[in-house]
Amino acid sequence: MSTKKILITGGAGFIGSHVVKLFLNKYSNYEIYNLDKLTYAGNLENLKEIEANPNYHFIKGDIVDANFINGLFEEYNFDGVLHLAAESHVDRSITDPLAFVMTNVIGTVNLLNAAKNNWVNSEGKKFYHISTDEVYGALGETGLFTEETSYDPHSPYSASKASSDHFVRAYADTYKLPVVISNCSNNYGSHQFPEKLIPLCINNIKHNKALPIYGNGKYTRDWLWVEDHARAIDLVFHDGVLGETYNIGGFNEWQNIDLVKTLCRLMDRKLNRPAGTNEKLISFVKDRPGHDLRYAIDASKIQKELGFEPSLNFEKGLEITVDWYLENESWLENVTSGNYQNYYQEQYLEKR
Ligand code: NAD
Ligand code: TYD
Repeated sequence: MSTKKILITGGAGFIGSHVVKLFLNKYSNYEIYNLDKLTYAGNLENLKEIEANPNYHFIKGDIVDANFINGLFEEYNFDGVLHLAAESHVDRSITDPLAFVMTNVIGTVNLLNAAKNNWVNSEGKKFYHISTDEVYGALGETGLFTEETSYDPHSPYSASKASSDHFVRAYADTYKLPVVISNCSNNYGSHQFPEKLIPLCINNIKHNKALPIYGNGKYTRDWLWVEDHARAIDLVFHDGVLGETYNIGGFNEWQNIDLVKTLCRLMDRKLNRPAGTNEKLISFVKDRPGHDLRYAIDASKIQKELGFEPSLNFEKGLEITVDWYLENESWLENVTSGNYQNYYQEQYLEKR
């Protein structure tokens, strides 16, 4: 088997760290280059298990720096790119949209340019852009996002991801860059920064703090276990057809309020608290501006064409996730001890 040099951007983040670990454990002929700026969301502790692997290389750097990115491609002549680096939190995008334009749009275009300029012979190469279902906008009570659904982003985050998806397709059409894209629903699992709904609630329940539910709590998301997403990414990278888009989802829709109540009950048991204790922490707060009502994915294309199936039901996945956070208290303390700001507390503390 020939050695391949694979660039993974954002490999110190939540999903990226699971992908780095999966690839290193599965493909002994891959040299993995993890390029990450280590923002508040990137944490090398996520990669402790594999940091001594001789096939693993960490590069600290910013995808917004075009010269630096071009130099990396010149130096390493990567065979493939999995691009996950991004600003990823909707609430932060409402406060600081420009940071999202810089990393998600400019950073992606810098990577595309570097691939275009350096992959003179692109035979066997692949540029894989990892994106979100949020680019499709919001669904009503019924319907599903398919790969043909028109883009209709509402938040600065989803607008920046939609823009980056368009650039990726434009480089395929204009310069014949070998690309593939996937759009996935909400992920949950270990190592997720505790500003997103599930880890935030786990952390707050543990510390007996209020559980902020935006608006009436009837907003709906489709949830997929992060390790299943990493498996889907593996399938798309290796078997996905160039130029194609694949929607990835868990066939697992939950209204936020029902999800949080389920989590409360699970954690009553885990923390040996009387039934009903944690639900008392639920606090309905001011809604997120531009809040998308419902996301739901039709994942039949990746199921039929690449054989992808989620491996876990949600209750099991949630339990594994809660256990991980309860066993990794120091991880939580470390990632929240820096100059991280809890955007919810600043913006949404106001009760409805
Ligand atoms: P994350 O915020 O946990 O991690 C992002 C990583 O990118 C961090 O390690 C960070 O340090 C790095 N990064 C940020 N800006 C950078 C820059 N300018 N240069 C280099 N590195 C930079 O995000 P995540 O939840 O792991 O998401 C990864 C990707 O998957 C993103 O592209 C996101 O849009 C997409 N996605 C996420 C979800 C989800 O539910 N989390 C769902 C679908 C798609
Ligand atoms: P989030 O985890 O931020 O993911 P996204 O906005 O990308 O879907 O939020 C998931 C859902 O939970 C979304 O409808 C917003 C809501 N939410 C709350 O009600 N309270 C919170 O504290 C957070 C962070 C999110």
